[in-house]
Amino acid sequence: MNIILLGAPGAGKGTQAHAIEKNWRIAPLATGDLLRRITSSETGAEENPLSIELREIMATGALIPDALMIGILEEEIALSKYANGFSLDGFPRTEAQASALEGMLLKNGLRIDAVVLLTIDEKALQARIEGRLFCPSCGASFHSSLNPPKREETCDMCDTRLERRKDDNAETLRKRLEVFHGQTEPILPFYEKQNLLIKIDGMRSIDEVAEDIQQSLLKLDTRS
Ligand code: AP5
Repeated sequence: MNIILLGAPGAGKGTQAHAIEKNWRIAPLATGDLLRRITSSETGAEENPLSIELREIMATGALIPDALMIGILEEEIALSKYANGFSLDGFPRTEAQASALEGMLLKNGLRIDAVVLLTIDEKALQARIEGRLFCPSCGASFHSSLNPPKREETCDMCDTRLERRKDDNAETLRKRLEVFHGQTEPILPFYEKQNLLIKIDGMRSIDEVAEDIQQSLLKLDTRS
């Protein structure tokens, strides 16, 4: 099964990608996590001019140029860990990315089975973003009060020390929302026309949202 997760910044895409992984054994592929890994000082890439440029773009909330992002995704998606399927979190974000993805999948005899759109009341986003803790190792997302880890600031999955993202602030959130409405929402009709779009209310608890997605995917699975 190959899934795309769409939604505003903080809608819960990463959180649900990890829930889907548990139920369906398909790997999350989060382009934001990939970029953070590529530009992390721990990879030794800190002084690389490309890493510096990528970090600067991400800190403003703007998008990485399409050609570069598509190249990064194409390399990643070919890895064997996605052989059983993937849930894409953060890609595609533009019409150019959506059409490049179609081309990549077609070339490999693959297809998207569902596009899950997490709908959200934007007033809730700032609190979600400002309390977020993320795992730089496995990409899991937690929240200091809404979804706290079992041990303080430590990832439940892999014991890594949790961090805060540099772009998790009110100013960058405004820009990321603007980008979402201006560049990502216009791709929704493309998937709606193909009958792939499943809208899920992302305002409920994490478990309720996960259960709703699970039931929708089970229905698809019995149809195919
Ligand atoms: P990216 O990392 O993709 O950020 P984003 O789209 O803004 O999405 P987030 O990761 O912020 O939110 P999420 O929906 O995954 O929420 P989460 O599950 O963590 O991208 C970052 C940057 O990278 C971009 O701005 C851009 O510069 C660049 N980039 C990435 N992809 C790109 C692309 N394709 N092209 C170009 N540039 C690209 O949840 C948020 C918080 O809420 C967590 O704390 C969580 O615990 C909590 N939470 C989740 N669900 C619930 C719930 N139901 N109830 C209560 N709390 C909840």
